[in-house]
Amino acid sequence: MVAAGLPDTVASAADLPQRITIWEVGPRDGLQNEKSVVDLAVKLEFIDRLADAGLRVIEATSFVHPKWVPQLADAAELVDGLSRRDGVSYPVLVPNERGLDRALEAGMDHIAVFASATETFANRNLNRTLDSQFEMFEPVVTRARAEGLRVRGYLSMCYGDPWEGPVPAEQVIAVGRRLLDLGCSQLSLGDTIGVATPGQVEALIAGFGDPAVLAVHFHDTYGQALSNTMAALRCGVSTVDSSAGGLGGCPYAESATGNLATEDLVWMLDGLGLDHGVNLDKLAGTSAWMAAQLGRPSPSRVVQALRG
Ligand code: HMG
Ligand code: MG
Repeated sequence: MVAAGLPDTVASAADLPQRITIWEVGPRDGLQNEKSVVDLAVKLEFIDRLADAGLRVIEATSFVHPKWVPQLADAAELVDGLSRRDGVSYPVLVPNERGLDRALEAGMDHIAVFASATETFANRNLNRTLDSQFEMFEPVVTRARAEGLRVRGYLSMCYGDPWEGPVPAEQVIAVGRRLLDLGCSQLSLGDTIGVATPGQVEALIAGFGDPAVLAVHFHDTYGQALSNTMAALRCGVSTVDSSAGGLGGCPYAESATGNLATEDLVWMLDGLGLDHGVNLDKLAGTSAWMAAQLGRPSPSRVVQALRG
């Protein structure tokens, strides 16, 4: 029997943000977690192919201490070798003033600082306490803004932390507001170890109260990244982080697996009729090529379905 109509509770795509910005993190979050260091030429081709597939924000690398993340020790050479395209932004991670100096020398105009919502991860990832990470970021954000750079703030461990367990939403909101108060124009809420579920996502976004300044950054450890993204879209968030082919993780949080795969996100956005500007076929081809470079299949279900 055909149902008379959909129940009122089914949200229509008309209620969702119509234009989604995909913030591609594969070259940074993906490659920082590879056991081996990927060749510079492969990284450069990867980034160029991502731009060719229509991605307009491609997080390129990190100006962190090379001993902490040797996979991205070639940051200066990488940004020097980029064929920067008009209309494409290439943000880089910068933890401190030394990192900002390096990013400015390289002519970057878009950076991200990255904070932790928990004490333990602030220590493990940044060698700082939860409070002293802000002493490190404050001059970075102030100087970067004075130089006309755009500054994003990341917040890690927004739902759960492998050492501290569940993280209370009030704690996340308090630390996140500090990043916005410093002058970050966008706050990306990181589910670093991929434990969140949609109800928590809705509660956290509602707690912040202004979805326009938020982005979401889900790792897919428990297979919830796409459901969580849908929950965030329903709350009005329109910037979504993802990595081509589902590359990713975090070297300082071992339980973190890859990010939400960009192809899985694009498939869902296409189905919802939302605008994002990415050519799925070119993107899946790029991820299949990257998987061959890395010597293992992409974990993305959509890449497997299209290229398997
Ligand atoms: P530290 O050891 O406390 O640094 O590390 P320091 O300030 O004491 O300086 C020690 C030495 O390092 C000095 O050299 C500095 O010049 C040098 P020395 O005088 O001994 O010769 N140094 C640097 N060199 C190059 N570039 C720099 C830099 N800074 C200092 N930027 C630090 C502190 C923050 C540097 C270190 O902890 C670090 O690099 N951490 C980065 C860790 C990281 O990149 N983690 C992954 C990214 S976060 C993530 O993936 C999560 C995210 O995806 C969101 C999510 O999923 O939740 C964003
Ligand atoms: Mg991440």
